[in-house]
Amino acid sequence: MRLTPSLLSADFTRLAEEIRTVEDAGAHGLHLDVMDGHYVPNLTFGPMVVAAVRRCTDLPLDAHLMIGNAPEHIGAYADAGADAIAVHPEAVPHLHKTISDLRSLEVRPGLAINPLCPLASLEEALAAVDYAIVMSVNPGWGGQRFIEGSMDRVRQVRKLAERHNPSLEIVVDGGINASRVAAARDAGADVLVAGSAVFGASDPAAAVREMLAA
Ligand code: DX5
Ligand code: ZN
Repeated sequence: MRLTPSLLSADFTRLAEEIRTVEDAGAHGLHLDVMDGHYVPNLTFGPMVVAAVRRCTDLPLDAHLMIGNAPEHIGAYADAGADAIAVHPEAVPHLHKTISDLRSLEVRPGLAINPLCPLASLEEALAAVDYAIVMSVNPGWGGQRFIEGSMDRVRQVRKLAERHNPSLEIVVDGGINASRVAAARDAGADVLVAGSAVFGASDPAAAVREMLAA
C-alpha cells in the first residue's frame, strides 16, 4: 500500500518545507489537486505550482485534474513535470483520444471516478489507463467526510480490473485516514491519497508514519 499525500491541505506559505516533511516521513508520491472553479466550485492551482513542486522533490507527482476542458490543458501539466495525470471522464468528450494524448506526453494516464458514476460505463476505459482513482468524497474540497460504501466500489473496480486490466493501480481519494487503511487494502486498493489527515495533523510526519504502519 502506497501513500501519496494531497498538497491541497498543505500550508502554502511553507510548501517546500511541507513537501520535505512528508517525503522524509516516507510518502511515496504527491497528489496534486488541480481545480478550476468550473468543473468543481473550488479553484486551487495550475501548472505554475506543479512546476514549483517539481523543483522541490523527486517524488512522483500525480496531477488530479478537476477541470473542465481537461484535454486542452494536459500538455501544460505534463510540461510542468507531472508523472501521472488523471482526468474525470465527464470532463473529457473524447476519452480514447485524451488517453492516447496522455501516453504520447509520456505521462501515466488515469481515470478519476466520481461517487455514483456507473462503473459499468468505464469497463473498457479501465483497460486503457494505468490507474483509476476511486473518489470517496465528492470532488472539490479537502477535509470532507468519507462516503460510506466507497470501499465496495474499490472492490468492484478491482473485480473489473481482474477481467480487463490486471495491472491497473487503484487509488482511493478522499476522507482517508489511518483508520481506513486496512479496509482499503482488503478492498484491493494500491494507493491512498490523504490531505487533511496528513497536513491537517499537528505532526504531518507522524501522520504519514502512522498511515504507513497501519
Ligand atoms: C477532493 C480531492 C482529494 C482531497 C483529499 O476533490 O480530489 O484529493 O483533496 O483530501 P482529504 O484527504 O482531506 O479528503
Ligand atoms: Zn484528488
